[in-house]
Amino acid sequence: MSVVARPQAPFGRRIVHVTDRRVAGPYVALTARDRGGPAPLAGQFYMLMTPTTWGGGADGRPYLPRALSFARAVSTADGIALDFLFEGVGPGTDRLMEVGVGDELLIAGPFGNGFALDGERWPVLVAGGIGLAPIVALEDELRELDGVRATTFVGMRSIDHASAAGLYELEHELATEDGSAGHQGYVTDLVKAHLEEHAESTVYACGPAAMLEAVRVLCAELGVPSQLAMESGMACGFGACYGCVVPTKDGFTRLCVDGPVLDGSQLDTALISGAPH
Ligand SMILES: Cc1cc2nc3c(=O)[nH]c(=O)nc-3n(C[C@H](O)[C@H](O)[C@H](O)COP(=O)(O)OP(=O)(O)OC[C@H]3O[C@@H](n4cnc5c(N)ncnc54)[C@H](O)[C@@H]3O)c2cc1C
Ligand code: FES
Repeated sequence: MSVVARPQAPFGRRIVHVTDRRVAGPYVALTARDRGGPAPLAGQFYMLMTPTTWGGGADGRPYLPRALSFARAVSTADGIALDFLFEGVGPGTDRLMEVGVGDELLIAGPFGNGFALDGERWPVLVAGGIGLAPIVALEDELRELDGVRATTFVGMRSIDHASAAGLYELEHELATEDGSAGHQGYVTDLVKAHLEEHAESTVYACGPAAMLEAVRVLCAELGVPSQLAMESGMACGFGACYGCVVPTKDGFTRLCVDGPVLDGSQLDTALISGAPH
């Protein structure tokens, strides 16, 4: 397994300008030009907020920035074009839904550990819902490595949600819960069928905790390594607040520093209580 030194976040928050906004079903993708940070690795994340519209809701929320994975990072002569993909599920993401082209975002990052690629095994990428973001980034990373053959499975609630994969021309096999496109059922049905034929795989997954747990259990049963991009409530994103601790076999760990990607073998369960999704 190749462990690459993580790109370090510059100190403090910085302003980035939004250069593009696209809508796919319930999801919004924002592109922002980052002139102050290093190129991130798939699975790393940023803390985001807006400079002027944050806070001030009925209960003062959103007070803290929100953690978002990046979905695509393209190096340009004028900084890194960073894509963020999200759905409005609460005060923070609702504010981000209102952001348009030309607006500013305040970001800090990239934080955390990305996926550690295992060059020897077949990469199997698994995305559930908004967990698509780091999986797009990982597919981009793999495409740049010559000769790497990856298989990607995406699970969505409906064809409407699945349109997010179209924003990134992602080659994938699709499962929808309502059967409106692709296989009707859970994405793990597709993953199981694949792994039963190809135990020489390594699974890289991001999605709701229940999906990650199903992937973890399946991989453990079949002896397949898994790397799971997890979520927990994050207040700072860089190790200071201990708000993001999750239980592992070796005790509690800060997900923002030691994750968000954890090896499935480190966990008794991926069902983290209090995980936002
Ligand atoms: C490393 C990382 C990467 C992430 N990447 C993305 C991404 O790329 N795109 C994206 O859309 N989101 C991403 N998230 C999730 C996002 O940060 C959270 O959903 C965040 O809470 C949204 O903020 P909010 O104010 O909009 O909603 P919140 O008010 O925080 O609520 C979000 C949802 O979670 C529920 N919720 C909140 N707290 C709890 C709790 N304690 N127990 C159970 N349910 C709870 C709420 O009911 C609501 O439905 C990521 C999170 C992490 C940690
Ligand atoms: S979010 Fe503050 S320590 Fe992890």
